[in-house]
Amino acid sequence: MTKIETRKQRHINISLHNNVQSDISTGFEDIRLIHRAIPEMNLSEISTETKLFGKRLNAPLLISALTGGTAEARRINSTLAHAAKAFGIGLGVGSQRIAIEQKEKEGSFRVVREIAPDALIIGNLGCPQLSFGWGVAEAKRCIEMIAADALAIHMNPLQEAVQLEGETNYRGILNKLKEITRSLNVPIIMKETGCGVAFEDAVRIEEAGVAGIEVSGLGGTSWAAIEHFIAKEAGKKEQEALGKALWNWGIPTAVSVVEVKRSTGLRVIASGGIRTGTDMAKAIALGADAVGIAKPFLDKAVEGRDILVEHIESILGEFRVVMFLVGAKNVEELRRVPLVILGKTAEWLNTRGVATEEYARRR
Ligand SMILES: Cc1cc2nc3c(=O)[nH]c(=O)nc-3n(C[C@H](O)[C@H](O)[C@H](O)COP(=O)(O)O)c2cc1C
Repeated sequence: MTKIETRKQRHINISLHNNVQSDISTGFEDIRLIHRAIPEMNLSEISTETKLFGKRLNAPLLISALTGGTAEARRINSTLAHAAKAFGIGLGVGSQRIAIEQKEKEGSFRVVREIAPDALIIGNLGCPQLSFGWGVAEAKRCIEMIAADALAIHMNPLQEAVQLEGETNYRGILNKLKEITRSLNVPIIMKETGCGVAFEDAVRIEEAGVAGIEVSGLGGTSWAAIEHFIAKEAGKKEQEALGKALWNWGIPTAVSVVEVKRSTGLRVIASGGIRTGTDMAKAIALGADAVGIAKPFLDKAVEGRDILVEHIESILGEFRVVMFLVGAKNVEELRRVPLVILGKTAEWLNTRGVATEEYARRR
């Protein structure tokens, strides 16, 4: 195994076998949807369909970027792709860097398009590669490799800073982005990896010509935690301590969704700690166009296709019932239902200039 393959494998093993969950929540417990005693519709009438980046989805759900590049990753991607196809939901592949550097790894990514020819499939590349000189050519290769409908460029400054030999050059990213968005005709999504996106960055990202942001906020998988365990195994005390210290760093997902939605006109994918159909409904009601789930789908995918299918079924079933209970016949209506923002999430948003009462007065 090459160094990068070993690292990929370690990420999967560590997240499967350790607690890598942030101790701070997404903030969705502070978002209260308003129960409607008379929904004035039948549960069977509800449509969860939506459209994102030119593709129709049966529900506003994506399997967020997870993996690629190893034999196990190929099996996982194949299971995830079967589920994406069966449910008519989207799928993001893990970072394709490994396949740009080692062409023979392409198959572990291509498999998703072979299995799900019509699904919304999102490619993946990292900011650090852009600052080391990659650009339009590599982005094009990622897209062509899987006939991607969109390309996510992940932002992971925390992970790189905590990681042993991490790539911490983030200077010049916005200019590189502008070049990429000008030269490609596939939408570009800027994607965090568990620390969220503030409105200050969202605005600059929009100016760079990007189509969407996947917030991937705090409250779910913590990359500081993953890197903490990797450093512990390697006996690297400094990184182990740093990972522990920054375990709960970031902007909670619910806060980040509101910040990005209110400051830009971009498509917003809510991810980071989305675990249930209720979380999903709350994220959409806050204005997200779709939600993404990563680690829980990885856990289920390694247990087998049927287990993953059952899990997605239960999330989507709950999502439909919550839509019914708030009287939303479709995703558009769900996006406009009134809701109450309480506690720390309201405090945070108020401090950042968001008048949270407006959400309660929506009609
Ligand atoms: C094992 C593992 C590998 C990941 N690899 C990538 C990746 O290659 N690219 C990326 O953008 N995000 C990657 N992520 C981050 C997820 O897409 C997601 O943003 C993050 O895990 C938060 O979502 P969650 O709380 O639902 O897990 C990975 C996550 C895990 C657990």
